[in-house]
Amino acid sequence: MKKVSFLMFAMIASLLLVMTGCGKDKEVSTTGKESKEEGSDGKTLRIVTDANYAPFEFLEGDKIVGFDVDFIKAVAKEAGYDVKLESVGWDPIFVEIESKRADVAISAITVNDERRQTYDFSVPYFLSTNKILVPEKSDIKSGNELKGKVIAVQTGTTGQEAVEKLIGKNHKDIKKFENNNLAIQELLQGGAAAVVADNTVVEEYVKNNPDQKLKVVEDSKSFNEEFYGLMFPKGSELKSEFDKAVNAIYENGKYAEIYKEWFGTDPDIETLKAQQ
Ligand code: ARG
Repeated sequence: MKKVSFLMFAMIASLLLVMTGCGKDKEVSTTGKESKEEGSDGKTLRIVTDANYAPFEFLEGDKIVGFDVDFIKAVAKEAGYDVKLESVGWDPIFVEIESKRADVAISAITVNDERRQTYDFSVPYFLSTNKILVPEKSDIKSGNELKGKVIAVQTGTTGQEAVEKLIGKNHKDIKKFENNNLAIQELLQGGAAAVVADNTVVEEYVKNNPDQKLKVVEDSKSFNEEFYGLMFPKGSELKSEFDKAVNAIYENGKYAEIYKEWFGTDPDIETLKAQQ
């Protein structure tokens, strides 16, 4: 069911983007979209995301859906909280958390040392790596072959960082976009030769849009393993409560259930736990 509606969403979304000519950040702006969940008598947490990153978080009509959405609802419920989820965009997530206006962020956020200086993170809940999205007929076979090509990325992501490592910081061939869908549109319109983003996102995109004739290039030498975490304001007391709740849903089967619903396979919980 979810698979089908996600496919339909992806098809309609790409159609709309093509029809509107896209390219302008505002056209897919999701600011203000909210969904409030009732479930326990606990306090309601304000949780922020960038709902432009299917299958983790994306809009189905006005509703924010995705693996991350089901995951955070399950974790919050386990910890005894209600969730008010809001799509504020990628860069604003960091501002909202640093200023403590939001309690938690979930947005396929990779935990890394630089971010750890400013924010706290939960234990890891997903294993990811960057991969290269290119047209089917592209001859790009590795990260090194991105040199001399125009590459589209989402600003401020580990995708941007990985490309900068390969071709140089602030290199003019890197086109940066406010969200990842815009980077993909740039590729489709021929304004870029490749997009670098999280594997699950580009793989799902290719699977759901066979007519667009794209493929994914893997290069484990150029791109490291990354782990997603929930992000909290530095010093937040929620961190330990949510760490416990994540581990509880690893143990009680809820995580595996959600994972299977979205990805059709069993998760490797041992690998995630080994990172704690
Ligand atoms: N995992 C990458 C990072 O943390 C990309 C995440 C982008 N997420 C999003 N919802 N747009 O930098």
